[in-house]
Order: sequence, then C-alpha cells, then structure tokens
Amino acid sequence: MSGRAAPRLLIRDLEQLVSPAGRDAPLRGSALAEVDWIDDAFILCDGPVVESVGRMSELGPLDGEVHELDGRGRCAAPGLVDCHTHACFAGDRVEEFALRASGAGYEELHAAGGGILATVRATRAAAERELTTLVRKHAGWMLRAGTTTFEAKSGYGLDRETELASLRAIAAGGGIPTWLGAHAVPPEFAAADAYVDFLLAEVLPEAAGLAEAADVFLERGAFDAAQARRYLEACRDAGLALRLHGDQFTEAGAVPLAIELGARSVDHLEATGDAGIRALAASEVAGVLLPASALVLARPMPPARKLVDAGAAIALATDFNPGSAFCESLPLVCSLACTLLRLAPAEALAACTVNAAHVLGCADRVGRIAPGFAANVTLLDAPDWRYLAYHLGAEVVGAVVKNGELAWERRLDHPELR
Ligand code: NIG
Ligand code: FE
Repeated sequence: MSGRAAPRLLIRDLEQLVSPAGRDAPLRGSALAEVDWIDDAFILCDGPVVESVGRMSELGPLDGEVHELDGRGRCAAPGLVDCHTHACFAGDRVEEFALRASGAGYEELHAAGGGILATVRATRAAAERELTTLVRKHAGWMLRAGTTTFEAKSGYGLDRETELASLRAIAAGGGIPTWLGAHAVPPEFAAADAYVDFLLAEVLPEAAGLAEAADVFLERGAFDAAQARRYLEACRDAGLALRLHGDQFTEAGAVPLAIELGARSVDHLEATGDAGIRALAASEVAGVLLPASALVLARPMPPARKLVDAGAAIALATDFNPGSAFCESLPLVCSLACTLLRLAPAEALAACTVNAAHVLGCADRVGRIAPGFAANVTLLDAPDWRYLAYHLGAEVVGAVVKNGELAWERRLDHPELR
C-alpha cells in the first residue's frame, strides 16, 4: 500500500527537460546562460510538488496510482513566470493603437486624457466581479502561452474602491497582486502630491493587506523622484516589497532610488545609461526588461546585453496591458530577447523563470523543475527547447502542468502538425 492521498503524475518520454542550472537565485553573469539539461527524461509529480526528475532509463517501478502524460515529441521547461503585468483592466485601447500607428505619441495621448486614463475610466465602470472575470480571462491567455505564475498590478482604478477591488480581483484570478496606486494622477486631483497624500492616507492601510508589493511610475508626466520616494517609503513601512517603473522614457532617478530603498526591481530601463547599468550591476536590485512594450511603442530596446555582461540580475516579462503591450506571450518576449536584446536562449529562459520568481519572492519553490519545487511545467511541442524563442510568434506551447495537474493541452485536429 502506498498510503498516498492522490495519484501522482508521471510526464514520460520527454525529448528534453531543461531547467536553469543549480539552485541559486537570482542567476547573474555567466551563470545566467547555464541550464541543467536531460535528454529522454521523465518528471514525477507528487500532488503539487515535483518528486523526482531523471532519464527514462533510471525510472524504477512506481507504486500506487500514477497518471501518465505523454512527453514524446515534447520538451519540458519550468512553468514560465511573468513578473510584470497589468492584467486587471476593462475595455481596450484599439483606437489608440490605430492612432499611434498613424503617428500619435504615447505620452501625448496620456497628456490629453487618453492612454492610461482611458483604461481608468473603463476599469472604474466595471464591477468587481467583472474585473475578476477579466483577470481570469487574461490568466487563461497567459496559461496557454506557458505562464503558470503571474504578477498583476492595480493602477487602473486610482480611487480607493477600484484600487482595492483590483487587488482582490487579481488574487481571485490567481495572480500575485502589486499595488500600483501611483500609476498616474487621476483627473480629480490637480497635483501629484495631493494624490500621493490621498493614496497613503486612504488606500495604503487596506492595500497593504491585499498586495505583496507596491509599484510606482517614476517618469515625467507621472511621479517625480521625491513623490515616488514618499510613496515607496510608506509602502515599505507598511510591509510591502517595492518595485518601480523607471527609465522608460527618461532617467529620472529610478535606479538610485530603487537601490537606496532596497527595491526588488526596477522595470523598463529603455533609457538607462552606462552609470545606471553599473549601479544596478553592483546592487541587489533586479532589472526587469519588457521588450514587447519597447516594440509596441517603437522605443529603443533596454540595454540587456550590457546589463548581463556587467553582472546585473535581469528578468524578462510581458508588461501585458491594453496600451503599451497588449501581449501575454512570454515565448514571444523570449524571441525578442534573443534577437533585439542579444540574449542567448538559456539567458532568456532563466530571465523568465528563476529570476522572475526571484523578483516575486518565490524562487525557493518556483522557476525550476527540481525535486521540492512546484510541479509547474511548460511542455513545448518541439524537438529542441530553444524553439521557445526560435519559433517566432508560433503556438509552441503544447500543454501546461500546474501544481501537478494538466491545466491546459492544445487540441490538435491534425496530430501531424505537432
Ligand atoms: O508599464 N508605463 C507605465 N505603465 C504601463 C503602461 C500602461 C498603459 O499604457 O496602460 C507600462 O508600460
Ligand atoms: Fe508596466
């Protein structure tokens, strides 16, 4: 008798299994490019946790009830981790997308009351249960692209009720909530300082119990370094981890502030120069790179190669949102990373698994396929795991296992397409 409560899941006959090397987090420098790689592999999951991995030839007899998942023609990578999304929003910005295609600027649309503020109007008009439904829908899109863990920010409410509803909707939709109260100044406030006063007095006390981290958009037209410092210090004192949107268009002090306050990450970095790169590399702060957003806004790409070569800890994320990056696909982000950011496929993999988990504070149990880790596995319908980045824009993810259960599998009308 095995005495096991639930059947185990055996993923068998995998072409390859890859996982970022070792057990350290975050991975930096040359370690970022190292993967543990097993050909002709199996993964045995016991409930929500990986029990063992190895070569098929090493798999002994298994007692108890075991469900099997066929890995033939498939490669296994850790379930992808999206550490920066804005998945809680209503409405869309397809009109704005078309306007930008004919030359309108992103910051210009925001200054005219569109952009982020257009999504704020739509999100405020939605009931909390609609927001929950929308987060679940977006989480489903992410799952089909191989994402098993995602962070999502509030920031399209900008009033007490909608900010708190957004954080609850994100948690109910399976996300890790970040409070981005300081995303933009809403129209009912004449000045950013008065809005920060309101956030800290009226929203933070409850937001601190719902979110894991706080985030701020430190940028011209949003919040300056003094306002960001005031917001982040209060959030830190309330027990939240810190994140920053910084250096997206201008270097306005986000990197030194992130380092001084011990933030988990500073995200975007498209405008970061050599001094910022050196400072980040010498710090514990991760740089989160969002190439889909740079692509959509036709902005310069972040200096990824320089950051990695200088020794900075980097992560990759989608920035999924209705304006600057309507893209939930980390495989596409990996493709951009391996072309426009000049990262190696192994570096891109580590950046959206173990290092992204580090940014979310869960790298001890998420981001690797190893005994004791969450049984989250992205199965690629491909003969080589590097198709994750190589097959541009393809539906390369064939199945996803989350917490030891098959969470999604592509139905193929024509199996020969696999
Ligand atoms: O990370 N830059 C600030 N915030 C988001 C975009 C939000 C939006 O356009 O709705 C970003 O790109
Ligand atoms: Fe963002």
